Amino acid sequence: MQHDVRILTNLEAIAKRAAQEFVQAATSAVSEKGSFSVALSGGSTPKALYSLLANDAALRAQIPWDRMLVYFGDERSVGPDHADSNFRMATEALISKVPLAADQVFRIKGEYKDTERAALEYEQALRTGLKIAEGQFPRLDLVLMGMGNEGHTASLFPGTKALHETKRTVVRTWVGKLYTERITLTAPAINSAARIMFLITGADKALALKGVLEGPYEPDQLPAQMIQPSNGKLLWLVDTTAGGRLSIGIRE
Ligand code: 6PG
Repeated sequence: MQHDVRILTNLEAIAKRAAQEFVQAATSAVSEKGSFSVALSGGSTPKALYSLLANDAALRAQIPWDRMLVYFGDERSVGPDHADSNFRMATEALISKVPLAADQVFRIKGEYKDTERAALEYEQALRTGLKIAEGQFPRLDLVLMGMGNEGHTASLFPGTKALHETKRTVVRTWVGKLYTERITLTAPAINSAARIMFLITGADKALALKGVLEGPYEPDQLPAQMIQPSNGKLLWLVDTTAGGRLSIGIRE
Protein backbone atom coordinates (compact mmCIF):
# COMPACT_ATOMS: atom_id res chain seq x y z
CA MET A 1 0.00 0.00 0.00
CA GLN A 2 1.25 3.47 -0.87
CA HIS A 3 1.38 5.43 2.38
CA ASP A 4 0.95 9.20 2.50
CA VAL A 5 3.45 10.04 5.24
CA ARG A 6 4.19 13.64 6.17
CA ILE A 7 7.11 14.34 8.51
CA LEU A 8 6.72 17.60 10.45
CA THR A 9 9.02 19.36 12.88
CA ASN A 10 7.01 18.98 16.06
CA LEU A 11 3.64 18.40 17.72
CA GLU A 12 2.55 21.98 17.13
CA ALA A 13 3.14 21.61 13.39
CA ILE A 14 1.29 18.29 13.40
CA ALA A 15 -1.66 19.84 15.23
CA LYS A 16 -1.86 22.68 12.69
CA ARG A 17 -1.66 20.30 9.72
CA ALA A 18 -4.17 17.93 11.30
CA ALA A 19 -6.53 20.84 11.94
CA GLN A 20 -6.43 21.74 8.24
CA GLU A 21 -7.31 18.15 7.36
CA PHE A 22 -10.06 18.15 9.98
CA VAL A 23 -11.64 21.31 8.53
CA GLN A 24 -11.34 19.90 5.00
CA ALA A 25 -12.96 16.62 6.01
CA ALA A 26 -15.75 18.38 7.90
CA THR A 27 -16.61 20.92 5.22
CA SER A 28 -16.57 18.41 2.38
CA ALA A 29 -18.70 15.90 4.31
CA VAL A 30 -21.26 18.56 5.20
CA SER A 31 -21.42 19.89 1.66
CA GLU A 32 -21.85 16.34 0.33
CA LYS A 33 -24.40 14.99 2.80
CA GLY A 34 -25.18 17.62 5.43
CA SER A 35 -23.31 15.95 8.29
CA PHE A 36 -19.80 15.08 9.50
CA SER A 37 -18.99 12.07 11.66
CA VAL A 38 -15.64 11.82 13.41
CA ALA A 39 -14.12 9.25 15.78
CA LEU A 40 -11.72 10.91 18.19
CA SER A 41 -8.63 9.12 19.43
CA GLY A 42 -7.41 9.00 23.00
CA GLY A 43 -3.99 9.12 24.55
CA SER A 44 -2.06 12.39 24.78
CA THR A 45 -0.94 13.31 21.25
CA PRO A 46 -4.32 14.48 19.92
CA LYS A 47 -4.80 16.94 22.82
CA ALA A 48 -2.83 19.55 20.87
CA LEU A 49 -5.18 19.18 17.89
CA TYR A 50 -8.30 19.29 20.07
CA SER A 51 -7.10 22.43 21.84
CA LEU A 52 -6.32 24.12 18.54
CA LEU A 53 -9.78 23.34 17.14
CA ALA A 54 -11.37 24.72 20.31
CA ASN A 55 -9.24 27.82 20.79
CA ASP A 56 -8.08 29.04 17.37
CA ALA A 57 -10.85 31.46 16.33
CA ALA A 58 -10.13 31.19 12.60
CA LEU A 59 -10.22 27.36 12.65
CA ARG A 60 -13.21 27.20 14.99
CA ALA A 61 -15.24 29.43 12.67
CA GLN A 62 -14.68 27.08 9.72
CA ILE A 63 -16.06 24.00 11.46
CA PRO A 64 -19.76 23.12 11.06
CA TRP A 65 -20.17 22.15 14.72
CA ASP A 66 -23.95 21.85 14.52
CA ARG A 67 -23.63 19.15 11.81
CA MET A 68 -21.08 17.03 13.66
CA LEU A 69 -21.50 13.58 15.21
CA VAL A 70 -18.65 12.82 17.61
CA TYR A 71 -17.65 9.24 18.39
CA PHE A 72 -14.56 7.62 19.94
CA GLY A 73 -12.15 5.06 18.52
CA ASP A 74 -11.81 3.36 21.88
CA GLU A 75 -12.22 3.76 25.62
CA ARG A 76 -10.67 2.43 28.73
CA SER A 77 -12.73 0.50 31.31
CA VAL A 78 -13.30 3.60 33.39
CA GLY A 79 -16.05 6.15 33.90
CA PRO A 80 -16.17 9.53 32.15
CA ASP A 81 -14.62 11.39 35.11
CA HIS A 82 -11.63 9.07 35.51
CA ALA A 83 -8.17 10.47 34.74
CA ASP A 84 -7.62 7.67 32.18
CA SER A 85 -10.86 8.35 30.30
CA ASN A 86 -10.44 9.27 26.62
CA PHE A 87 -13.86 10.90 26.82
CA ARG A 88 -12.69 13.07 29.72
CA MET A 89 -9.54 14.12 27.86
CA ALA A 90 -11.49 15.05 24.72
CA THR A 91 -14.18 16.81 26.77
CA GLU A 92 -11.65 18.94 28.63
CA ALA A 93 -9.64 19.79 25.51
CA LEU A 94 -12.46 20.19 22.98
CA ILE A 95 -16.03 19.08 23.59
CA SER A 96 -16.73 21.33 26.60
CA LYS A 97 -15.38 24.35 24.70
CA VAL A 98 -17.28 24.17 21.42
CA PRO A 99 -20.99 24.39 20.50
CA LEU A 100 -21.80 20.67 20.44
CA ALA A 101 -25.13 19.54 21.88
CA ALA A 102 -25.10 16.50 24.17
CA ASP A 103 -26.96 14.44 21.57
CA GLN A 104 -24.14 15.01 19.08
CA VAL A 105 -21.54 13.24 21.26
CA PHE A 106 -21.59 9.45 21.70
CA ARG A 107 -19.57 8.18 24.63
CA ILE A 108 -18.43 4.58 25.10
CA LYS A 109 -19.73 3.56 28.54
CA GLY A 110 -16.41 2.45 30.04
CA GLU A 111 -17.96 2.43 33.50
CA TYR A 112 -20.08 -0.65 32.69
CA LYS A 113 -18.73 -3.72 34.49
CA ASP A 114 -20.27 -5.66 31.61
CA THR A 115 -17.94 -4.45 28.85
CA GLU A 116 -19.72 -6.58 26.26
CA ARG A 117 -22.87 -4.57 26.97
CA ALA A 118 -20.87 -1.35 26.48
CA ALA A 119 -19.51 -2.65 23.16
CA LEU A 120 -22.95 -3.74 21.90
CA GLU A 121 -24.56 -0.45 22.95
CA TYR A 122 -21.84 1.50 21.17
CA GLU A 123 -22.17 -0.58 18.05
CA GLN A 124 -25.89 0.25 18.08
CA ALA A 125 -25.18 3.96 18.62
CA LEU A 126 -22.92 3.98 15.56
CA ARG A 127 -25.45 2.02 13.52
CA THR A 128 -28.28 4.36 14.46
CA GLY A 129 -26.27 7.56 14.11
CA LEU A 130 -24.82 6.62 10.73
CA LYS A 131 -27.94 4.76 9.54
CA ILE A 132 -26.10 1.47 9.00
CA ALA A 133 -27.94 -1.78 8.35
CA GLU A 134 -27.16 -4.85 10.47
CA GLY A 135 -23.96 -6.53 9.32
CA GLN A 136 -22.60 -3.44 7.55
CA PHE A 137 -19.71 -1.33 8.81
CA PRO A 138 -20.18 2.39 9.56
CA ARG A 139 -18.49 4.76 7.15
CA LEU A 140 -17.13 7.45 9.44
CA ASP A 141 -16.03 10.58 7.62
CA LEU A 142 -12.86 10.84 9.69
CA VAL A 143 -11.12 8.57 12.19
CA LEU A 144 -8.26 10.02 14.22
CA MET A 145 -5.67 7.51 15.38
CA GLY A 146 -2.55 7.36 17.49
CA MET A 147 0.00 4.59 17.84
CA GLY A 148 1.68 3.14 20.88
CA ASN A 149 5.41 2.46 20.92
CA GLU A 150 4.74 -1.18 20.28
CA GLY A 151 2.46 -0.57 17.32
CA HIS A 152 -1.01 -0.72 18.92
CA THR A 153 -3.69 1.65 17.67
CA ALA A 154 -7.08 2.43 19.17
CA SER A 155 -7.21 -0.48 21.63
CA LEU A 156 -6.05 -3.01 19.09
CA PHE A 157 -3.05 -4.43 20.93
CA PRO A 158 -0.48 -6.97 19.69
CA GLY A 159 -1.46 -10.61 20.11
CA THR A 160 -5.09 -9.94 21.08
CA LYS A 161 -8.17 -11.68 19.71
CA ALA A 162 -9.68 -8.33 18.70
CA LEU A 163 -7.17 -8.18 15.83
CA HIS A 164 -8.96 -11.09 14.15
CA GLU A 165 -12.49 -9.72 14.43
CA THR A 166 -14.07 -9.55 10.98
CA LYS A 167 -17.78 -9.05 11.74
CA ARG A 168 -18.20 -6.75 14.73
CA THR A 169 -17.85 -2.96 14.65
CA VAL A 170 -17.03 -2.61 18.35
CA VAL A 171 -15.58 -5.24 20.68
CA ARG A 172 -14.30 -5.53 24.21
CA THR A 173 -10.73 -6.71 24.41
CA TRP A 174 -8.57 -8.03 27.27
CA VAL A 175 -5.18 -6.29 27.28
CA GLY A 176 -3.00 -8.57 29.39
CA LYS A 177 0.02 -6.30 29.62
CA LEU A 178 -2.16 -3.57 31.11
CA TYR A 179 -4.23 -6.07 33.09
CA THR A 180 -7.43 -4.40 31.92
CA GLU A 181 -10.28 -4.60 29.44
CA ARG A 182 -10.76 -1.98 26.77
CA ILE A 183 -13.55 -1.26 24.28
CA THR A 184 -12.47 -0.54 20.72
CA LEU A 185 -13.55 -0.09 17.14
CA THR A 186 -12.37 -3.06 15.11
CA ALA A 187 -10.01 -2.83 12.14
CA PRO A 188 -12.75 -3.48 9.55
CA ALA A 189 -14.88 -0.76 11.14
CA ILE A 190 -12.00 1.73 11.09
CA ASN A 191 -11.07 0.71 7.54
CA SER A 192 -14.57 1.59 6.32
CA ALA A 193 -13.89 5.26 7.04
CA ALA A 194 -13.59 7.88 4.31
CA ARG A 195 -10.48 9.36 5.93
CA ILE A 196 -8.10 8.04 8.59
CA MET A 197 -5.41 10.26 10.07
CA PHE A 198 -2.59 9.12 12.37
CA LEU A 199 -0.92 11.63 14.66
CA ILE A 200 2.35 10.19 16.00
CA THR A 201 5.16 11.86 17.92
CA GLY A 202 8.12 10.75 19.99
CA ALA A 203 11.41 8.94 19.40
CA ASP A 204 10.09 5.92 21.35
CA LYS A 205 7.77 5.21 18.42
CA ALA A 206 10.38 5.41 15.66
CA LEU A 207 11.18 1.68 15.45
CA ALA A 208 7.55 0.54 15.59
CA LEU A 209 6.60 3.15 12.98
CA LYS A 210 9.37 1.94 10.66
CA GLY A 211 8.14 -1.61 11.22
CA VAL A 212 4.55 -0.62 10.45
CA LEU A 213 5.35 1.34 7.30
CA GLU A 214 8.42 -0.40 5.93
CA GLY A 215 8.60 -3.83 7.53
CA PRO A 216 6.95 -7.15 6.66
CA TYR A 217 3.18 -7.34 7.13
CA GLU A 218 2.89 -8.89 10.60
CA PRO A 219 -0.20 -7.22 12.14
CA ASP A 220 -0.24 -9.51 15.15
CA GLN A 221 3.00 -7.82 16.13
CA LEU A 222 2.16 -4.34 14.79
CA PRO A 223 -1.63 -3.84 14.72
CA ALA A 224 -1.36 -0.37 13.16
CA GLN A 225 -0.50 -2.24 9.92
CA MET A 226 -4.12 -3.40 9.77
CA ILE A 227 -5.31 0.16 9.22
CA GLN A 228 -5.75 0.37 5.45
CA PRO A 229 -9.01 2.05 4.38
CA SER A 230 -10.95 -0.08 1.89
CA ASN A 231 -12.22 3.04 0.12
CA GLY A 232 -10.73 6.10 1.74
CA LYS A 233 -7.71 8.27 2.43
CA LEU A 234 -4.99 7.40 4.95
CA LEU A 235 -2.64 10.12 6.15
CA TRP A 236 0.24 9.71 8.58
CA LEU A 237 1.35 12.90 10.35
CA VAL A 238 4.52 12.16 12.27
CA ASP A 239 7.16 14.35 13.86
CA THR A 240 10.88 14.18 13.00
CA THR A 241 11.64 12.03 16.06
CA ALA A 242 8.93 9.41 15.44
CA GLY A 243 9.74 9.49 11.71
CA GLY A 244 13.51 9.62 12.21
CA ARG A 245 14.14 6.10 10.92
CA LEU A 246 11.82 6.20 7.92
CA SER A 247 13.14 6.03 4.36
CA ILE A 248 9.72 7.06 3.04
CA GLY A 249 7.73 10.20 3.80
CA ILE A 250 7.62 13.83 2.73
CA ARG A 251 9.15 16.44 5.03
CA GLU A 252 6.88 19.48 5.43
C1 6PG B 1 -5.69 5.10 23.86
C2 6PG B 1 -5.54 5.41 22.41
C3 6PG B 1 -4.29 4.78 21.92
C4 6PG B 1 -3.32 5.93 21.69
C5 6PG B 1 -1.90 5.40 21.68
C6 6PG B 1 -0.91 6.56 21.56
O1 6PG B 1 -6.81 4.84 24.32
O2 6PG B 1 -4.64 5.19 24.54
O3 6PG B 1 -6.61 5.13 21.68
O4 6PG B 1 -4.39 4.02 20.78
O5 6PG B 1 -3.62 6.57 20.46
O6 6PG B 1 -1.71 4.73 22.90
O7 6PG B 1 -1.05 7.36 22.70
P1 6PG B 1 -0.20 8.73 22.86
O8 6PG B 1 -0.81 9.67 21.87
O9 6PG B 1 -0.45 9.13 24.28
O10 6PG B 1 1.22 8.41 22.55
